[in-house]
Amino acid sequence: MGTRPDIKRLQSRLDSYRLLVEEAKDYAIFLLDLEGNVTSWNLGAERIKGYRPQEIIGKHFSTFYTEEDRKAGRPERNLQHAFKEGRFEDEGWRIRKDGSPFWADVVITRIEDEQGNLIGFSKITRDLTERKRAEDEIRKLKEDLEHRVEERTAELKEANKILKQRTAEAEAADRLKSQFVSNVSHELRTPINAIIGYADLLKSEVYGPVAGEQREALEGIERNAGDLARLVNDMLDLAKIVSGKMSLERTQVNLGALIEAVAADLRPFSEKKGFPIRCVFERELPRIESDASKIKQILVNLLSNAVKFTDRGEITVRARKRGDRDGVEVVVQDTGIGIRPEELPKIFDPFHQVDGASTREYGGVGLGLAIVKELLQLLDGEIRVESTYGKGSAFTFLLPMRGQPDSTTPS
Ligand SMILES: Nc1ncnc2c1ncn2[C@@H]1O[C@H](COP(=O)(O)OP(=O)(O)OP(=O)(O)O)[C@@H](O)[C@H]1O
Ligand SMILES: [Mg+2]
Repeated sequence: MGTRPDIKRLQSRLDSYRLLVEEAKDYAIFLLDLEGNVTSWNLGAERIKGYRPQEIIGKHFSTFYTEEDRKAGRPERNLQHAFKEGRFEDEGWRIRKDGSPFWADVVITRIEDEQGNLIGFSKITRDLTERKRAEDEIRKLKEDLEHRVEERTAELKEANKILKQRTAEAEAADRLKSQFVSNVSHELRTPINAIIGYADLLKSEVYGPVAGEQREALEGIERNAGDLARLVNDMLDLAKIVSGKMSLERTQVNLGALIEAVAADLRPFSEKKGFPIRCVFERELPRIESDASKIKQILVNLLSNAVKFTDRGEITVRARKRGDRDGVEVVVQDTGIGIRPEELPKIFDPFHQVDGASTREYGGVGLGLAIVKELLQLLDGEIRVESTYGKGSAFTFLLPMRGQPDSTTPS
């Protein structure tokens, strides 16, 4: 009674499955007999592999393998695998009718009848060439990138090595230079002192009377030898500081008293030129822990410049505590010739003097400020300058309340 409609329904379901298989365009779906010969061929198989059904039906499925794989017996082994295990899955190169390869995803499945007897195989193949190409591309890019990173790292390492080497070389050269300067300076000091000594002896007439013009000449010798001695001392100092051989002696320094003393030393020179040196301090100027002789040298160099480059007006030295910076600030201000803005960054360089005229007119060699800068660095301080050309200059330096513990004995 109910068999007819059942068969009909089954028939129509089979028809729709067949349609589904035959029309699937992105999958090659076909059947193989027991030996592996093609027995059915869908649209997808035709599209992917390029054979029309009449060209391929009856042919052995090994046609789709590469020659290499065929020689190695892979088609047979794959079929054997599907036979034994019920299913075989693989990804690999397959060949189209026109001989071009494509990257395939393959599934071979064993087909049995109702009694469980083997009647053949189904084979589903997908063309994954695009995916494979993209994957290969990504892998290549990744390898490329890794390679480039490796290369760059190696380059950087090499550059770093060279840089370290150069720095070491430069430091060695610097030490050698300082050593040379300090040796030469040292050797110069002895004969200079002898010259000054002999001139002094002559002047004091132990070898007989000295007439007016002779005395003037002797004073010329003394003056010039004195300049030379100062230059040699300055060079020696600078070389010592730069090579790290200048040691510090920290004590409690009364900065106010120190400034007064230096000002007093220089007053004869300013008064001779007709202007005063004034000192202005805060009442509560604290003592600082520092090296008094180094601070004295800084003050002498700044004040002697102020006196040298000023003709009228006055020189003022101010000192005050800087609560915000935990230090004491000293300003040496003059109403002298001033410095052009473009010269300001250079005046702390060794041997730099503003236009050659200044050398002839004012003397000196241009080491004073270089020494000031190096000494302040040694004392963990700092210096800055403000100046108006034709009106005057102000050199401001800051000293910390106490120095960094590790800089007391520079290496
Ligand atoms: N107070 C100042 N007013 C104007 N110019 C200045 C002043 N201080 C320094 N300079 C300029 O900076 C230059 C460098 O000063 P620095 O003290 O280093 O050398 P110097 O005084 O010429 O020689 P040295 O100090 O070795 O005797 C000076 O030659 C001068 O041109
Ligand atoms: Mg000077």
